[in-house]
Amino acid sequence: MKTIFSGIQPSGTLTLGNYLGAMKHFVELQEDNNCYFCIVDEHAITVPQDRLKLKNNIRSLAALYLASGIDSDKSTLFIQSEVSAHTQLGWILQSISYIGELERMTQFKDKSTGKDAVSAGLLTYPPLMAADILLYKTDIVPVGEDQKQHLELTRNLAQRFNNKYNDIFTVPEVSIPKVGARIMSLQEPTKKMSKSDDNQKASIFMLDDMKQVEKKIKSAVTDSEGIVKFDKENKPGVSNLLSIFSICSGRSIEDLEAQYQNAGYGEFKQATANSVIDTLQPIQDRYYELIDSEELDNILDKGAEKANYDASKILAKAKKAMGLGRVKKKK
Ligand code: TYM
Repeated sequence: MKTIFSGIQPSGTLTLGNYLGAMKHFVELQEDNNCYFCIVDEHAITVPQDRLKLKNNIRSLAALYLASGIDSDKSTLFIQSEVSAHTQLGWILQSISYIGELERMTQFKDKSTGKDAVSAGLLTYPPLMAADILLYKTDIVPVGEDQKQHLELTRNLAQRFNNKYNDIFTVPEVSIPKVGARIMSLQEPTKKMSKSDDNQKASIFMLDDMKQVEKKIKSAVTDSEGIVKFDKENKPGVSNLLSIFSICSGRSIEDLEAQYQNAGYGEFKQATANSVIDTLQPIQDRYYELIDSEELDNILDKGAEKANYDASKILAKAKKAMGLGRVKKKK
């Protein structure tokens, strides 16, 4: 049995990219592993957030985790800010991080370029992410492709700490899905689908109504060739829809190509939309049952309790290894 950790930011409604690239795999992994899934609200505040919206997004994300199939009997689901060990170990790991390596992170560059006021938290985000992972002796971190660089840094920080102080941290492996690791924007298929895209037609949100889902897929940018074929370089729009269709239907890309190659984009898009609707509808039904329930609070309370217990042990070891705190005089 391996230990799995992953997190999602409550920085807006989740997209189909978050679901297909990450959350769907969490559900599969919880069957045979010891899993921790986190609502990483402290990461979300590295960019300005409206306080009420943030609160709602945190609860909404918790409900979406459960509605997607995370089972609180098999996995620990919790909110990052309810487990203070995260920011404490985050600080420790910041202290062994180099500014240069943090400035090289693509996500930092993307989010800071051209901005007047960039928070220090945006720069020190990766050591906090490393803390999330290292607090639970994580073996495997399932994420989409965009998190690969952060995972590489996490491994470096774990090794750096272990070499310098004491062999405390498990060095985690990253797990990136073969299909769906980077679901692209429906309007600009060379750019990833993102929660924060200004163009609403570019992303499918997990809580979009089914009419919107259908409309967005039908207006997805493709090409003028009219042939359904997977070719990321020359046909990014069609390839993206094929990836979405494949994961939602559980059918291989080759199989879908064979069926739809000459069917025309209209028919192909309709079938893709149907597979997305079949995926999202049951999740939404369960979501609306959970969102205002006490059950949701009970699960999050139980998750925070377990995560606090587990994380405090590793935090204590890390503090001791570094010499933090005092030597108590015996009476
Ligand atoms: P976040 O909240 O941006 O995304 C959550 C997960 O969704 C994946 N993802 C995608 N996968 C495929 N296609 C897309 N278009 C797409 N967009 C997002 C992400 O790769 C991620 O797996 N830094 C992290 C949150 C985090 C974390 C952690 C993750 C904080 N601490 C510890 C793992 C372990 C983030 O911003 O993810």
